Amino acid sequence: MVRETRLSPADFIYPIFVTREQAGPIKGMPNQFRYTIDGALRAAQEAEEAGASGILLFGIPESKDATGTHALSPSGVIPDTLRAIKNAGLDLVLITDVCLCSYTSHGHCGVIHDGKLSNDATLPLLAEMARIHADSGADIVAPSGMMDHQVSAIREMLDSAAHQDVSILSYSAKYASAFYGPFRDAAGGAPQFGDRKTHQMDPCNAREALREIAMDIEEGADMVMIKPALAYLDVIRQARDRWPEVPLVAYNVSGEYSMLKAAAMQNYVDESAAILEVLTSIRRAGAQSIITYHALEAARLLNQPTQ
Ligand code: PBG
Repeated sequence: MVRETRLSPADFIYPIFVTREQAGPIKGMPNQFRYTIDGALRAAQEAEEAGASGILLFGIPESKDATGTHALSPSGVIPDTLRAIKNAGLDLVLITDVCLCSYTSHGHCGVIHDGKLSNDATLPLLAEMARIHADSGADIVAPSGMMDHQVSAIREMLDSAAHQDVSILSYSAKYASAFYGPFRDAAGGAPQFGDRKTHQMDPCNAREALREIAMDIEEGADMVMIKPALAYLDVIRQARDRWPEVPLVAYNVSGEYSMLKAAAMQNYVDESAAILEVLTSIRRAGAQSIITYHALEAARLLNQPTQ
């Protein structure tokens, strides 16, 4: 009766990886897969049946090059997946990841000039990628590359292409985290040289996260995200207190999922209880939606009459 935080399947957004040629299980993430387009459609149907609010789509292209050309193909794996899901008439919010790292041969989130990631040369590519996703049926685009001014560049492009109704969920405070390891294996987006510390955030900083969020809100982000979730619950709480009116999303990332699964497989923790406790903690910290690989199993747990 006096419970302050209640978890519901509608709080969840389920990440789905899509590929034409490399479907299969993801190393380090039991029960997570790289799906074909048909498989992604079935996963989306399952997410809808479980009561999740949305899915977040990541594309793995057929081939990669220095500028991530495949990311800008209107018949690429993500546009085709969006059309397949839209045509199936699912009542799910379709969110797409907008970043070049799984499309570039070097694995960086943008184009490289003189050995360095060029922020400004990357912006038009992200804007174009977002427009193509919107053209293909995305409801929300989620730029994850932490490029400065990516939100305003994408907003301008979407508005000029008559996509005023497509929203932007910005990965505003994304830390340079060790917890992305399994994801990089899943999406094949590990940097081939250097790291992402010039643009992703230092785990030591919380005030800087608030500054990043403020800039994204100013640029027109409809929703903001903090990522990862568990090691940054304090940042989630501060953002919620500072902007009570802005939808706040947290990404319970791949390494967080793997850690819990690994412990559960050894029977070190009670898996179902741990999943619900972790997700509840993220909601309690102040996130209103959670992107989580646990979405389907957590929704099923919550949908059981005994819970
Ligand atoms: C791409 C991107 C990453 C994740 C989401 N989008 C990886 C990275 O920045 O290296 C990580 C998600 C996860 O670990 O679950 N920029």
